[in-house]
Amino acid sequence: MSSASDKSNSPERTVELPFVLAITGASGSIYGLRLLQYFMEIGQPVDLLVSRAALQVMKEENDLIIGDDIAGGLTRYLELPEGAPFKLHKLTDYGASVASGSYRTKGMAIVPCSLGTLGAVAHGLTENLIHRAAAVCLKEKRTLMILVREMPFGHIQLKNMLALSEAGAVVAAACPGYYHRPQSISDQVDFVVGRVLDQYGFDNSLFKRWKEDSRPLPMPSRILQDH
Ligand SMILES: Cc1cc2nc3c(=O)[nH]c(=O)nc-3n(C[C@H](O)[C@H](O)[C@H](O)COP(=O)(O)O)c2cc1C
Repeated sequence: MSSASDKSNSPERTVELPFVLAITGASGSIYGLRLLQYFMEIGQPVDLLVSRAALQVMKEENDLIIGDDIAGGLTRYLELPEGAPFKLHKLTDYGASVASGSYRTKGMAIVPCSLGTLGAVAHGLTENLIHRAAAVCLKEKRTLMILVREMPFGHIQLKNMLALSEAGAVVAAACPGYYHRPQSISDQVDFVVGRVLDQYGFDNSLFKRWKEDSRPLPMPSRILQDH
């Protein structure tokens, strides 16, 4: 006979654990948006953190102009159903769930990750909730992946990436491969997003894998116009 406490440790409970997704102000907000869209498609609950700079980049790169209602703006832009399972947190809310290690998650990804956020996380600063959630993820030994975007990298940023790697984070740059013969920007985005998902064991077929047959999922044209 199973009790309530048995259920809390059951595999089903683990499947429902939320994922922490942070989108910061590096170029490539499309990666974070696509990741959010993918999670909503598969019903993966997400704790979402979006920096002010990320909103500025979304405006520049995706014509996505969001006012005060960030959750509503993202829902409309990504054409998510009402009640899509993501919760947007204010970056000043240090009482949020993701600020505590006792709040269980599948891990966290910062996609894309700016050099500013990279530096803060590498040095254990907690000037906003993204930094704090990343610090929590590291101390709890959960998977933290950062997808940095800059070119070229300076010495300080390379040292920060090394520090984070040594602390257990998965460090990557947003650099799509070409061996899967991408036909569009969407293909390149999905290659990177798919490789992010791989780090957490999400069984995705967003891109054609080397020596494997896979069927990429369609991407709504509103996110990205292919040229
Ligand atoms: C259009 C645009 C593109 C940017 N691209 C990058 C970038 O690729 N990498 C980066 O580290 N910062 C980039 N920045 C600068 C960051 O947004 C800025 O350093 C900001 O302070 C980062 O804050 P955040 O980490 O809180 O998001 C960009 C800014 C804008 C407006």
